[in-house]
Amino acid sequence: MDCTSNVASKASTAAPKGNSESLDFSVRQAGLSTRCVHAGERRQKAEGSITAPVFNASTYTFESTEDLLRYVKGEEQREEYGRYGNPNERSVEAKIAALEKAEDAIVYGSGMAAIVGLLMTKLSAGDEIVFFDQCYHRSREFCAKHLARFGVITHQVTTGDFDAMEAAINDKTKMLVSESPTNPHLTVIDLEKFAAVGKANEVETLIDATLATPYNLSPLEYGIDYVLHSATKYLGGHNDLIAGIICGRKESLDPIRSMRGILGNISAPNNLYLLERGLKTFSLRMQRHNENGQRVAEFLESHPRVGRVFYPGLPSHPTHDIAAAQMKGFGGLITFEIQDADWQETARIVDAAQIPRIAASLGGVESLIEQPLVMSYYHCTPEDRKRFGISDNMIRMSCGIEDADDLIVDLEQALTA
Ligand SMILES: Cc1ncc(COP(=O)(O)O)c(C=O)c1O
Repeated sequence: MDCTSNVASKASTAAPKGNSESLDFSVRQAGLSTRCVHAGERRQKAEGSITAPVFNASTYTFESTEDLLRYVKGEEQREEYGRYGNPNERSVEAKIAALEKAEDAIVYGSGMAAIVGLLMTKLSAGDEIVFFDQCYHRSREFCAKHLARFGVITHQVTTGDFDAMEAAINDKTKMLVSESPTNPHLTVIDLEKFAAVGKANEVETLIDATLATPYNLSPLEYGIDYVLHSATKYLGGHNDLIAGIICGRKESLDPIRSMRGILGNISAPNNLYLLERGLKTFSLRMQRHNENGQRVAEFLESHPRVGRVFYPGLPSHPTHDIAAAQMKGFGGLITFEIQDADWQETARIVDAAQIPRIAASLGGVESLIEQPLVMSYYHCTPEDRKRFGISDNMIRMSCGIEDADDLIVDLEQALTA
């Protein structure tokens, strides 16, 4: 082993400096809102500042060679080089680990960087993965198209079909992957079954719980191995940053953290400051997202111009029973179809809405609206759109934290415009 990788792996797997001080037993056992505000942070910060300073440093200095040797030998835990970690990263990771009640968490430059980082660490040529087919289109693209270039075979099976999942598993299978709820159909996975299939076949399980968040769902409690979030969405919450996170057991995450030090798919300190700031109000924001999502979904379902509404909080949703059993609330994302409309008529409704802005993404304080056909699936063939369940008359709306009454009045005018 060469010296560089030795230092890199030591630095990148070192325990967070100072976090043990703040992540004491009482904070980890506190309510979610208290954890949002206090977990992962040092009680007393530099110069007595109540907020964490931003460490805009690419590298960290040593007083002397003796000082450096103490670090290299693992006798002292501290920062070394920005690609292997920084204090802002440590506190965000510890805070999100506390929200998920996970042993450890690794933050990335984006949700996609987290997915790629995890799969590139865990999989080698000849391995196989099985994943439920409803998912964020770039995750599907990475698994189906790019992992194949490295000799990893991806089996896509119908979301929620555990028999098909079992049938696709063989002795080369290394990972079962799903979102819950899925994007954009909001299908909720039975996590007890998902974890059981993984355990019975000795295959690790990964749930992308971006749409659920740790406020609404705790996949680790069901025995899932890895929980992943695009922190760009509800965790950051303000449509002002891109980040991703993986939570799980420390022993499982250590090699993934080490690989991040090599891939370099990290998040910058300024970005992490914004994420930490956003996390402080995460619990409050989620209450409003849940309320707004439920009220707007009920309004849409009762509207004569609206056809199918995909929202797990509605009894009409195919996986409502699983959602009600597993989730505390159902979030702000709603997908719905306009009755007997073509894509142009659907686009007119999107354009007529005044409060939600036309944009990709979800989970921020501002409501967003989009037509999946135009936004993410424009370059897909009609056959693929059909396969992925994307109809021409489909709209996806992310309810922000505005007043639900205003969102409803606005949608009413847009639907009747
Ligand atoms: C469910 C889900 N996972 C992952 C991602 C990717 O996250 P990011 O945009 O932060 O890379 C997205 C993005 O929309 C998503 O919706």
